[in-house]
Amino acid sequence: IQPTAMTAPASDQSFIQKLKTSGRSLVVFYGSQTGTAEEFAGRLAKEGARYRLKGMVADPEECDMEELTSLKDIPNSLAVFCMATYGEGDPTDNAMEFYEWLQNGDPDLSGLNYAVFGLGNKTYEHYNEVAKYIDKRLEDLGATRVYEMGLGDDDANIEDDFITWKDQFWPAVCEFFGIESTGEDVSVRQYRLTEHDSISSDKIYTGEVARLHSLANQRPPYDAKNPFLAPVKVNKELHKAGDRSCMHIEFDIEGSKMRYDSGDHVAVYPMNDEALVNRIGELLNIDLDTVITLTNTDEESTKKHPFPCPCSYRTALRHYLDITSNPRTHILKELIEYTKDPQEQEKLKLMSSTSPEGKSLYNQWIIKDNRNIVHILEDLPSCKPALDHLCELLPRLQARYYSISSSPKVYPNSVHVTAVLVDYTTPTGRHNKGVATSWLKKKQPKEDFTPTTPIYIRRSQFRLPTRTQTPIIMIGPGTGLAPFRGFIQERHLSRKEGKPVGDTILYFGCRKKSEDFIYQEELEQYANEGTLKMYVAFSRDQAEKVYVTHLLQKNKDEIWNIIGENNGHLYVCGDAKNMARDVHDIVVKVVMEKGNMSESEAMAYVKKMENQKRYSSDVWS
Ligand code: FAD
Ligand code: 2AM
Repeated sequence: IQPTAMTAPASDQSFIQKLKTSGRSLVVFYGSQTGTAEEFAGRLAKEGARYRLKGMVADPEECDMEELTSLKDIPNSLAVFCMATYGEGDPTDNAMEFYEWLQNGDPDLSGLNYAVFGLGNKTYEHYNEVAKYIDKRLEDLGATRVYEMGLGDDDANIEDDFITWKDQFWPAVCEFFGIESTGEDVSVRQYRLTEHDSISSDKIYTGEVARLHSLANQRPPYDAKNPFLAPVKVNKELHKAGDRSCMHIEFDIEGSKMRYDSGDHVAVYPMNDEALVNRIGELLNIDLDTVITLTNTDEESTKKHPFPCPCSYRTALRHYLDITSNPRTHILKELIEYTKDPQEQEKLKLMSSTSPEGKSLYNQWIIKDNRNIVHILEDLPSCKPALDHLCELLPRLQARYYSISSSPKVYPNSVHVTAVLVDYTTPTGRHNKGVATSWLKKKQPKEDFTPTTPIYIRRSQFRLPTRTQTPIIMIGPGTGLAPFRGFIQERHLSRKEGKPVGDTILYFGCRKKSEDFIYQEELEQYANEGTLKMYVAFSRDQAEKVYVTHLLQKNKDEIWNIIGENNGHLYVCGDAKNMARDVHDIVVKVVMEKGNMSESEAMAYVKKMENQKRYSSDVWS
């Protein structure tokens, strides 16, 4: 077997052709960034067989989406869209072109049968906006909605939302097309296993994202499929005390031709913890150095392998598969057949069912007790899945994003990251370590050794105003400070160069001044030199909590002066859940009070600021 690329040639874009030649009528498109929407699409396509709707998954980026106008030529055809929403209500990269086509085009979609499932996160303001737009737009263009849109909330339990929707969706589809369920629970393997007894080592993937040997033979341009192996020049602790850790990391990008702007993100491809990887080999009694290829049994699929193959199980578990998040119900369902003990089997059956008791057990035993696949295998000792099947089922390990905490004007040859170590104990008493942060923590440069990390730059919309005179307010407690460190460096440089620079105001918050006031000395120096005005909230230095939001409330006049009277910009970075929302509410209040507006006028004012990129958020949960 020759090492093969991950995807088919781009010329192969006719999904109608593929449906026809393989006798299928269901196509499930996905807009996926982290793989969840793609996984949901795969599950729907597979389940179609149960209802005599043979299905196929399709990436809109690799399809000629204008063909949607002629899907109606295939009898009983149905297009399902599993679409994720990101950031400020944006589609995923692979759905962007399709989204723009829907927005700008005016195709006649009459006769197209469709349904939409959205993946979003309620923490963010633009909850599931992409799915909502697509669902409405398709109807406006004449298509027929077969079943109402489902919305998944990743902040709660998106798996539950999905299976609940699916449970209603299929009967509706059957009724619409007048078909009966075959009743069969199809459990077909998507990939065929080949074990390689003798294969030359230069044909085996060892962690590359796409091109074989791309990490050993580095060639620009660097991007998500071709990351740059960046030397870690600096990796130091920022916390002065306390039991948590925050790292300041400097990646050397000299010679990489990678460029960035203040406010961009750097993506890091981490490796799973070696002990956890070995534990899987131990529990399943398998030699992890066995080299395998998993090949898609669906020849029409553009995805030939679930991850770069051939590779060893060890490489798959280290680099390609997510072994630390809570497995979804379809994985538990597939584990049943590998479980000998009847009680353990019952437990898996119940958890993968959609009954209320099943959902509640899943929620308790998997989500609340926070079990990953290793914990499940440990706690259900008679469950011994075939490792190749497990590799087929587990989601792909994702790159982690970090807001770059340096300015390219000051550090053109390095990218700085400010990251808090994730490290906690689960309710079952296990010690969980964040994949990327615990791996980065070990990347300590020594005199005679410089560790490296695969990275690429991801452009963002989080930008300083073009005119340096424009005043800015930055609100970034904790690691939310990261992008502002770059902003401040840049404004400071502009001042040094004699340019007129508007007010540069920072709201920073942390727990204790003596512990986690990160970059304290630098910030104080910028303040002393007149570049920066800083407000700091220490939440745990006194009995009452003090947050950045409390400080904002005290400074309404200054805030209005900047955003209302001087056309300034306001930035929020950090925790999406509470902080960013609280800040938003305060800004609305400031606009109401100081700008003499009603609540709805103030909301519209803030919305307009967002559209003008005068109110920008870089938040994560
Ligand atoms: P993972 O292995 O992914 O584990 C994290 C998960 O563990 C959490 O999602 C949660 O489910 C669980 N978890 C964590 N703590 C606990 C707990 N106490 N109890 C129970 N469960 C818990 N991070 C930064 O530090 N700095 C940044 O500048 C930064 N910028 C970002 C920018 C963007 C656009 C995005 C999307 C994220 C950013 N992040 C940043 C977050 C970062 O990408 C990672 O999510 C974070 O570092 C954790 O990654 P990890 O692999 O170490 O942890
Ligand atoms: P706490 O952990 O003591 O509650 C960085 O994480 C800082 O942000 C911490 O001091 C944290 O305080 C604080 N913080 C927590 N929730 C917040 C919120 N809703 N708004 C502003 N700051 C918050």
